[in-house]
Amino acid sequence: MNRAKVWFAAVLALIFLLSASACTSNATTSSGENAAGGDLIGVAMPTQSLQRWNQDGDNMKKQLEEKGYQVDLQYANNDINTQITQLENMITKQVKVLVIASIDGSSLTDTLNKAADAGIKVIAYDRLLMNSPNVDYYATFDNYKVGTIQGQYVEEKLDLKNSAGPFNIEFTSGSPDDNNALFFFNGAFDVLKPYIDSGKLIVPSGQTQFEQVATLAWDSATAQARMDNIITANYAGGAKLDAVVCSNDSTALGVEASLKNAGYGSADKPFPIITGQDCDKPNVAAMINGEQSMSVFKDTRTLAAQVVSMVDAILKGVEVPVNDTATYNNGSKILPSFLCDPVFADKDNYKELLIDSGYYKESDLQ
Ligand code: BGC
Repeated sequence: MNRAKVWFAAVLALIFLLSASACTSNATTSSGENAAGGDLIGVAMPTQSLQRWNQDGDNMKKQLEEKGYQVDLQYANNDINTQITQLENMITKQVKVLVIASIDGSSLTDTLNKAADAGIKVIAYDRLLMNSPNVDYYATFDNYKVGTIQGQYVEEKLDLKNSAGPFNIEFTSGSPDDNNALFFFNGAFDVLKPYIDSGKLIVPSGQTQFEQVATLAWDSATAQARMDNIITANYAGGAKLDAVVCSNDSTALGVEASLKNAGYGSADKPFPIITGQDCDKPNVAAMINGEQSMSVFKDTRTLAAQVVSMVDAILKGVEVPVNDTATYNNGSKILPSFLCDPVFADKDNYKELLIDSGYYKESDLQ
């Protein structure tokens, strides 16, 4: 071998050794844990009683594990103290990042202080964590847009721009302890308010304030009982309900049950326009059989993928992907957020959106 070849071989060997050691040091932290694997991530979900949170939890666990993380996934049965205990256990276990979908966004301030003291980063998942500086990022869907899609649907189906009306409408919104609920309500109400002001839309119950139409814990039975009262008090004389803006699918189910009991769903008394959100299985079935008009699809796989990439970026010390730095003020600071896009769904596009994309099987919807 001549001198040049010897030098070339030596340089190649050096490059090989350097790159091999770079891979090893990338994969191992100072504590000996694998940087992508080994690290424990805490995922706190509010409840298993609503379908979407099971999907959110499953997707988060699956996608984090695919990246090599360990996952402590907990559901709190919609009980605030249970969620606090679960989070404190995660802090004791020294999770590296906490991903929290809260039950009551304002009830975790002390717990978040503890997480910050332990150096744990926090991502608010879907629902904003309020009144604490110790939240690092927020990932959700564009909640105001969810409401806008619902409001525009009613506007279009009743042809409010052209027809004289008047039409009867009622509102059923979400839980007052969930920051999202007001965004959903405002999104829809802002579209419909001009028609209420001009008299094309009439709200016979007179309930147009968020506090009046809210549904604690998004509970179907609570929404049903409220609609029962509204029907008895305002529609007894044969007045027809033309639309109900329901902020999500669980409240829509309650409203649909109430309306069925009141005789809606027949040829001379068809269901009013009813909106929803989440594309829960019973609600997609209700869209197919004509009891619910639409829903808003929020693909929980997309949200989970976004949060997983945030977790990954935090732990790798690289820039965390966000696309909104103005909208979500938690009372303490504006959260760097990633807003995923919600999508309109009804009986005409559900196959493409939900079946073809592998979200559900057709047999799920029977
Ligand atoms: C979520 C909705 C869900 C509701 C009830 C909200 O925070 O954004 O998707 O329907 O909670 O679980």
